[in-house]
Amino acid sequence: MGNESSTPVDEATPPTKLHGRSIEAVAQYMKEKDVKNIVVMTGAGISTSAGIPDFRSPDTGLYANLARLNLPYAEAVFDISYFRNNPYPFYTLAHELYPGKYRPTVTHSFISLLNKKGKLLHLFTQNIDCLEREAGVPGDKIVEAHGSFATQRCIECQTEYPDDRMREMISKKEVPKCIRKTCNGLVKPDIVFFGEALPEAFFRNRSLPAKADLAIVLGTSLTVQPFASLPSFVREDTPRVLINLERVGTLGSRPDDVLLLGDCDAGVRKFADALGWREELEALWETTDPDKSDRGKQQAPLKSRQEQLDDEIEKLTKDIDTSLKVTGETSERIKAELEKDTTTANKTSSPPADVLSIPQPTNSKDQPSLQHVFPHLKEGKEDKPEKPSL
Ligand code: OAD
Repeated sequence: MGNESSTPVDEATPPTKLHGRSIEAVAQYMKEKDVKNIVVMTGAGISTSAGIPDFRSPDTGLYANLARLNLPYAEAVFDISYFRNNPYPFYTLAHELYPGKYRPTVTHSFISLLNKKGKLLHLFTQNIDCLEREAGVPGDKIVEAHGSFATQRCIECQTEYPDDRMREMISKKEVPKCIRKTCNGLVKPDIVFFGEALPEAFFRNRSLPAKADLAIVLGTSLTVQPFASLPSFVREDTPRVLINLERVGTLGSRPDDVLLLGDCDAGVRKFADALGWREELEALWETTDPDKSDRGKQQAPLKSRQEQLDDEIEKLTKDIDTSLKVTGETSERIKAELEKDTTTANKTSSPPADVLSIPQPTNSKDQPSLQHVFPHLKEGKEDKPEKPSL
């Protein structure tokens, strides 16, 4: 399954379960077969219209912007080895990304509507913004595959850290330390960093895609393993829908794959139109607006999505720039230490399947050491990541 081809299906090949490869045909299939076991898989692209940048979009993504700063590589901000040496960049980001600041998008509400209609088997999300929960999807239907800000603990002794103190520290942009005085280790939200294992709930529920009668993939580049393999676990003859700006993973390679390439919010609205759910969807989304009149006052005139993203990125890069305590010298030292770790790590073949991993190079012999582990972060370029492997 992991070796599934990503070659687009031949136009002439007819679908097996659907009447056609269109969103209208998917809606018809849902009605005719009374589909009740939908598995949804999401990534950062479903939150960009809320004002949260994604990671890998070439100009607006977080990694393209963090790469300009003094980090040894952009993904260091979510790397456990780097965090041990310098937690400031992460806590600057955390201040911006902490739940409670953003409104769910209509895409989050669409997932919530699937649940209200009794059709959601499970949601797998890579997002840490908790917006699915805020849109009304119940916690027991969600696997937060890359963790969340909901809980936090000391990275040394694992002692949990109180929620109210965490909120306070993040709002003050301070780095929390273990409440056990004898330990004094760094505290980190239970977000999965590169090099850490995914939550047990991910592995407990990993067989659910194989039980689905429909899979919907939304707003993800499917570059980070093991999450990126989930759509391959969907049965071969089960329809899969991709709503994303670009084609990703193996979506589009099977006869019953339907691609809606474009904005997620526009895509789910089209889907809702085809299902006859549009009014209900908009009404449900309205309920996520905390106080329409206050919002109207604060935000007039409303900014475009691009303006919101530009503002957010500028603020993030400025904040990180000023609070980044790493001098060039320290950064060199950390880089050297990481290279040392990397050399050791490279002696083993590929990362264990339960550890968060970014794409491995298929041909590493002509790349310098750090790029073996972070192949798409070459000096001054944002190369397209190569396909990951488990
Ligand atoms: P990426 O930034 O890698 O991918 C986002 C995808 O959404 C891309 O394919 C975009 O083209 C698409 N996209 C962006 N805005 C969109 C919109 N409005 N409508 C439709 N599509 C849109 O984000 P993820 O796939 O979520 O891990 O990244 C996976 C993981 O990599 C993250 O969970 C994070 C990161 O490192 C950790 O931080 C641990």
